[in-house]
Amino acid sequence: MTLYITLFSQSQGTFQGLLDNINSLYENGLFLENLFSFFELKSEVPVLDQKTRPAEDPSRGIEFRGVWFQYPGRTEWAVEDLTLEIGPSEKLALVGENGAGKTTLIKLLLRLYEPSRGAVLFRGVDLRYFSPEELHQRIGAIFQDFVHYHLPLSENIGFGAVEHLEDQARIEAAAAKSGADEVARGLPEGYKAMLGRWFDKGSELSGGQWQKIALARAFMGDREVLVLDEPTAALDAGAEYEIFRKFQDLSEGKITLLVSHRFSTVRMADRIAVLKAGRIEEIGSHAELLARGGTYAKLFELQAQGYR
Ligand SMILES: Nc1ncnc2c1ncn2[C@@H]1O[C@H](COP(=O)(O)OP(=O)(O)OP(=O)(O)O)[C@@H](O)[C@H]1O
Ligand SMILES: [Mg+2]
Repeated sequence: MTLYITLFSQSQGTFQGLLDNINSLYENGLFLENLFSFFELKSEVPVLDQKTRPAEDPSRGIEFRGVWFQYPGRTEWAVEDLTLEIGPSEKLALVGENGAGKTTLIKLLLRLYEPSRGAVLFRGVDLRYFSPEELHQRIGAIFQDFVHYHLPLSENIGFGAVEHLEDQARIEAAAAKSGADEVARGLPEGYKAMLGRWFDKGSELSGGQWQKIALARAFMGDREVLVLDEPTAALDAGAEYEIFRKFQDLSEGKITLLVSHRFSTVRMADRIAVLKAGRIEEIGSHAELLARGGTYAKLFELQAQGYR
């Protein structure tokens, strides 16, 4: 009797465990389904028929032609009737107060949004002929709110060109360009160091150190266009000077779009466009704009005064 009762209660436990396992199997299956349906998401950006795509003209850079743009659900225009031509190897800086539309222009260039009116052209071809994948292959961009990947340092940089993720030499070369090599030297595990606090042994970095890593990401791929949205906002003065000393070489022959609020950075560009409420207020070289005595000259003078 004792034997039967013991066996019965034991098997009850076993069945209970079995049912629990089936239950969690089902639950995990649901999560996996979410993951797989996420992987299957296709980009919904329409791409024009490639058969009608005109030939590219390498002597042309980027053109915004009468572009208007409104964010969904907003009534005011973020970009208003903007026309801008960027030469085939020009370095253009965008300046302007917060909310002037600098980041929006970059998003339009990467087809993260479509212009409401007007067109954007790359090498003389309407951007609507380019799939987002192709654009990401040809345009390297680091956004203001770049991602801090809680992963090893080498991968954080390698994500700038996933096709070279295993290429350690390339990763280290990119790091040397942005000063991220110094960050790696400061960590006991070097490029293998886990960054962020999500995992055990992960090291949290300072804002400027993260930024150096993000900047190295931009130098990983050999892209035709380099877009840097406030790349040096968190860098100390010495680090910023170092980067821009190398900058001319780094961006040789490339189109570079640079957004910055620091005029010491901005003046390195060939031309500077001052944006105001989605429009271009003035455009020209540093010397031209200073001579003009407009907004740029005023703002430059304001920042310079702080150093006297
Ligand atoms: N995702 C969004 N949805 C709705 N409105 C947006 C969105 N992003 C930006 N805006 C609006 O568009 C305008 C331009 O914003 P944008 O981010 O281009 O400014 P910015 O010049 O990059 O400013 P900052 O110097 O602060 O980076 C702002 O009025 C902003 O409120
Ligand atoms: Mg911005």
